[in-house]
Amino acid sequence: MEKEERYQLLVAQIRALVEGETDQIAVMSNIAAVIHQEMKFWWTGFYRVVNNELVLGPFQGPVACMHIGFGKGVCGTAWKKGETIVVPDVEQFPGHIACSSASRSEIVVPIFSKSEPQRVVAVLDIDSEKLNTFDSVDQKYLEAICLLCRVDS
Ligand code: SME
Repeated sequence: MEKEERYQLLVAQIRALVEGETDQIAVMSNIAAVIHQEMKFWWTGFYRVVNNELVLGPFQGPVACMHIGFGKGVCGTAWKKGETIVVPDVEQFPGHIACSSASRSEIVVPIFSKSEPQRVVAVLDIDSEKLNTFDSVDQKYLEAICLLCRVDS
């Protein structure tokens, strides 16, 4: 199955999975699990903005760093810029935070508050153990998934 087709099924699955759920952690937990299981990534998880830093949230994969500052690493940069960052080769990203030496490429997608659409409340971070894993197809569908992830009113 093509990547695009797999993502279409994944988005439909996530839409059904989170419908009616209002607990942010529950939604993030199942979204991390289903993305990880269906797409077979190396690490899939969330960092939430708590007290003006990113704090590790629900994830699947090896242990990861727990706190990331504003503008730090790929995650903190996606938070600061308020936009998705695709990193084809993590060694080429200045300031990349290596939670695992196995990680070679990465995508980070910001999640915005429903009530304050300019405010980043969390990021979705996905790591691959291969170079050049993520492209515009991943970006498009992971951004759609991050819209489904928002539970605040
Ligand atoms: N590489 C990330 C840190 C988080 S781990 O990859 C799970 C970064 O540079 O922000």
